[in-house]
Amino acid sequence: MSVSPQTVAVFGAGYVGLVTGACFADLGHRVVVRDVLADRVEVLRRGEVPIFEPGLDSLIARNTDRLSFTTDVGEAIEGADFVYIAVGTPPTYSGDADLSAVWTVIDELPQIERSTVVVMKSTVPVGTGSRVRHRLDERGLQHVGYVSNPEFTAEGTALRDFMHPDRIVIGSFRDEDGDAVEALHAGIEAPVVRCDVASGEMIKLAANAALMTRISFINEIANVCEATGADVVRVAEGIGLDRRIGPAFLRAGIGFGGSCFPKDSLALKQLAANSGYHFQLLNAVIEVNELQKRRVIGKLHSHLGSLRGATVALLGLAFKPNTDDMREAPSLVLAGRLVAEGADVRAWDPVVEGADLFGVEIASSPEAAAAGADAVVLVTEWPELADVDWKAVAATMRNALLIDGRNMLDPAALRAAGFTVEGIGRAASVSEG
Ligand code: UGA
Repeated sequence: MSVSPQTVAVFGAGYVGLVTGACFADLGHRVVVRDVLADRVEVLRRGEVPIFEPGLDSLIARNTDRLSFTTDVGEAIEGADFVYIAVGTPPTYSGDADLSAVWTVIDELPQIERSTVVVMKSTVPVGTGSRVRHRLDERGLQHVGYVSNPEFTAEGTALRDFMHPDRIVIGSFRDEDGDAVEALHAGIEAPVVRCDVASGEMIKLAANAALMTRISFINEIANVCEATGADVVRVAEGIGLDRRIGPAFLRAGIGFGGSCFPKDSLALKQLAANSGYHFQLLNAVIEVNELQKRRVIGKLHSHLGSLRGATVALLGLAFKPNTDDMREAPSLVLAGRLVAEGADVRAWDPVVEGADLFGVEIASSPEAAAAGADAVVLVTEWPELADVDWKAVAATMRNALLIDGRNMLDPAALRAAGFTVEGIGRAASVSEG
């Protein structure tokens, strides 16, 4: 299908907005990304990328003739066929999504004469589209379309996820608006799910909830494995080969974090509660995840006794590899708990620098973090950690204990290197060095 170049305004120059803008530009469209933060826009205009997302800098550089950045609403909207909303929707104290940035975009739209389509990329509660539609109508913008087009990109693989998605979801009130958004994606090979706006909004929340449920499920299986002598890595392999189950998102660990899952689980829980429904399963998924982040502390206690005065090295701080995102990272809970227990905490991360972690000392390498420590906790499965000379590291530690919070490393090799090793859900491989 040949691309008919369109003009796209993207509101929000965060992860989602920048990926969306750069990918649409790469598909041949003219894109203007608008953000309220003048500094961020300046940085982007200089050709720098303010976030760490593999490949994004070169994608932006490759499309500079079709991609521009501004703080000015009028400039962004000028000639726009589509207005993508990609602003943050963080949780409020009640757990509801804070939609103030969304409403600001809607209220700032000028009296558009042309048949523009407003497209919601931000994750929003079900019912938001109807409210936006109402607000547009009140302002005499009945001719402006509205479409829910949720994103399913994961940080670290966002460009591939955008260009080669499992599906594209398009929820619209009017078929012609959905048709226009579908045509905008020409060049991307993927099944397209067309639906009403509320279902589009729910698909996004339900997809994340399903993924979180799998993680909390395998983490609970891991905890039972620990108590019964099974190995969750083998168990996950064994169940994942069942085609009805599948292998993805069955990695047991120290819990999920990031900018999406924790926020979206709260938003869905709250959405259900506001509608009079107690979403019992989702509540359990959230609670299991909270407890999972803290289980490492129990493991350290069982090996070291009191942690007061113990030195603990945290390897990896970002909520997952290939991102610098610290939002809701399990490392934050771990560091906070360890400091509260009186431990001295040193941390290393290849991307996150100078994070404000309650006085945690930041080391320049995994080796430097571990030297003289009583325990090492592998928090984020950065590929760099596979190349560490663990035998040399064990020799520099006061006590060679390694808790592998992601089951990344080979326990037998670590044992041979002199470590006492414990993973997550791997009772069979717990052994003294
Ligand atoms: C997630 C979804 O995967 C995307 O589809 C979605 O678009 C995005 O949220 C969003 O709503 O914007 P992301 O948060 O970037 O993407 O990262 P994931 O790779 O999904 O990982 C989330 C968390 O789950 C991480 O902390 C990761 O360590 C953890 N995880 C993942 C596990 O503990 N076990 C697994 O098997 C998989």
